[in-house]
Amino acid sequence: MFARDAERSQASLDDAASPAAQVLDIGCGAGQEMLPFVKAGAWGVGTDIAPDVGALGYELYSRVGLGKRVCFVRSTAEHLPFASGRFAAVISRLALPYTDNAQAIAEMARVMSPHGVLLLKIHHAGFYLNKAWYGIRSGKLLNTVHAARVLTSGVLYHLTGTQVRNRIVTNETFQTEWLLKRELARHSLVIRRHMPDTNWMTPSYVIARSDAIPGGDC
Ligand SMILES: C[S@@+](CC[C@H](N)C(=O)[O-])C[C@H]1O[C@@H](n2cnc3c(N)ncnc32)[C@H](O)[C@@H]1O
Repeated sequence: MFARDAERSQASLDDAASPAAQVLDIGCGAGQEMLPFVKAGAWGVGTDIAPDVGALGYELYSRVGLGKRVCFVRSTAEHLPFASGRFAAVISRLALPYTDNAQAIAEMARVMSPHGVLLLKIHHAGFYLNKAWYGIRSGKLLNTVHAARVLTSGVLYHLTGTQVRNRIVTNETFQTEWLLKRELARHSLVIRRHMPDTNWMTPSYVIARSDAIPGGDC
């Protein structure tokens, strides 16, 4: 769907402010979010923890004649196998909830170039509240149980600053803008603005270094 959504593709490019030579998508799925950048001339790298990372991605890019401009690497968001400052655009959409957030954000900050942007989409608490309510309404109570566990985990993370994983809670967590600002500040990153597809359940942000001059990268 994103590959055909010209308006949102253009918005992603506009958010990067300047053409990115290399773009990284963390927790990439099919890697479709890199497509506008790769079409504009960037080299794309997609990473995902999934064993079949790249299976769909190579197919998608080959179909539009760009298979040689991307590569897909299996890795966790918490330990990226790339040199520091490598990517002018780093994308991560809806993967952060499943990671060790502090470690994943540290890695995103590390691989971003000095004037790079991070295009980040998160799961707000509202996403899981909606899921819990859906479970009750539809009688699919496993949804409610899962959402309750993530909400518990997220509240603990917000209060203590540490993500816990045990038999009751889970490492999956929601984020809020307040939490994000706390984690980003550790790496001198700030939220510049929302992306056009932002919404209350899954907000999206354009993030940059606090000392970066917008449009200063190439
Ligand atoms: C909801 S999907 C989003 C996929 C893609 N970003 C998109 O927008 O279509 C979450 C992705 O994060 C990946 N993921 C989960 N935990 C991860 C981790 N620790 N490191 C890297 N990727 C992870 C999953 O395999 C999955 O592909």
